[in-house]
Amino acid sequence: MTTVAVTGANGKTGRVVVADLLEHGHDVVALDIVAGPGDRDRMARIGTSLLGADLTDYGQAVDALQGVDAVVHLANIPAPGLFPAAHTLNTNTVMNNNVFLAAAQNKVSRVVWASSETTLGLPFDVPPR
Ligand SMILES: NC(=O)c1ccc[n+]([C@@H]2O[C@H](COP(=O)([O-])OP(=O)(O)OC[C@H]3O[C@@H](n4cnc5c(N)ncnc54)[C@H](O)[C@@H]3O)[C@@H](O)[C@H]2O)c1
Repeated sequence: MTTVAVTGANGKTGRVVVADLLEHGHDVVALDIVAGPGDRDRMARIGTSLLGADLTDYGQAVDALQGVDAVVHLANIPAPGLFPAAHTLNTNTVMNNNVFLAAAQNKVSRVVWASSETTLGLPFDVPPR
């Protein structure tokens, strides 16, 4: 059995990934910056606990990934237009760097990272500048 950390565990993709990993017998460390009482209850009902962590903070990322065998990295601001562009770029860049660096620091050799289908050419409704 492996212990898998899922970042963005409270998000659309994260919830499905956490449930699937648990169904396949893995231990899951579920991480998300949004971790209210209702979110924690929902995660407890499917068999794990939700740890609140802001992964733009390197110390929190290092701490949260201690002792895991693999990371599924889904935490991000998932689309343009939700925040000012600079905030989205800066937040996601820092978060992605922190997760990969924290995985390396903890000697976690496997990271699954959700990129985006837009990198393969799927156009935005309004093309990027
Ligand atoms: N849903 C899609 O169709 C799709 C398509 C392509 C790529 N992706 C990528 O997959 C990933 C997940 O997408 P989603 O649709 O589940 O998004 P989502 O917004 O539902 O989930 C993202 C989660 O990340 C969390 N998060 C944000 N900032 C955080 C921080 N600083 N620290 C910790 N957690 C933080 C949010 O609270 C949220 O629960 C994203 O990287 C997104 O870009 C999604």
